[in-house]
Amino acid sequence: MWHVSPRVAERAGRRRGAVKVARMTARLVVLVSGAGTNLQALLDACADSSYGAAVVAVGADRRGIEALARAHRAGVPTFTQQLSGHPDRATWDRALAQSCARYQPDLVISAGFMKLVGQDFLGRFAGRFVNTHPSLLPAFPGMHAVRDALAYGVKVTGCTVFLVDAGTDTGPVIAQEAVPVSEDDDVASLHERIKRTERALLVDTVGRMVRDGWSVRGRTVQVGHHEAAAANQARQG
Ligand code: GRF
Repeated sequence: MWHVSPRVAERAGRRRGAVKVARMTARLVVLVSGAGTNLQALLDACADSSYGAAVVAVGADRRGIEALARAHRAGVPTFTQQLSGHPDRATWDRALAQSCARYQPDLVISAGFMKLVGQDFLGRFAGRFVNTHPSLLPAFPGMHAVRDALAYGVKVTGCTVFLVDAGTDTGPVIAQEAVPVSEDDDVASLHERIKRTERALLVDTVGRMVRDGWSVRGRTVQVGHHEAAAANQARQG
């Protein structure tokens, strides 16, 4: 499965002497459920046009959260799809997918969005639905990654940016970074330290994806080196 970001497509077109297209910026829809510090990091990065992306909408599964307030302050449109507002999970999932699709995203980013999406959503956004998780997957998947890592007694944990598949935190890994656990850490202090690393990793990873493109083969995600890899693939026939 190959994805080329709008920025890469533009560069390729220019080199082949094809019709010159306007410089394109990748469109991000960001899904949130809480404080929204990862969203804020993306909004801040997008303020620099060389980053290559813009947050075109923020979606939530609940009202009254700081993440939505951050979007409002940044002048970014928002939508909310609460599970309780729909007769069943499948209908909610379809509505969420439609709300996102309305903004024609190149990437959908789950930045602390605390719901698992279903088949409709994955069908529409497979291969371009990115999530961030506060552990080194496959260790400690699920809602309580930081608590579980502390309870296990690991000395190093971290964060993972990955492509969402139908499982819980099981999709192909795009990037990871380690964070040491301190002896006096509790869940709050460790999560806070992980989140500092996580924000930087998310911003860096999304930026590289939109600027350089990415490919997925089996469980292996490659960001950049796209043209070399494509040429390789063509050679192999
Ligand atoms: C992040 O650690 C994310 O990985 C987890 O929830 C946290 C969200 O933080 N699922 P924020 O809302 O972006 O501040």
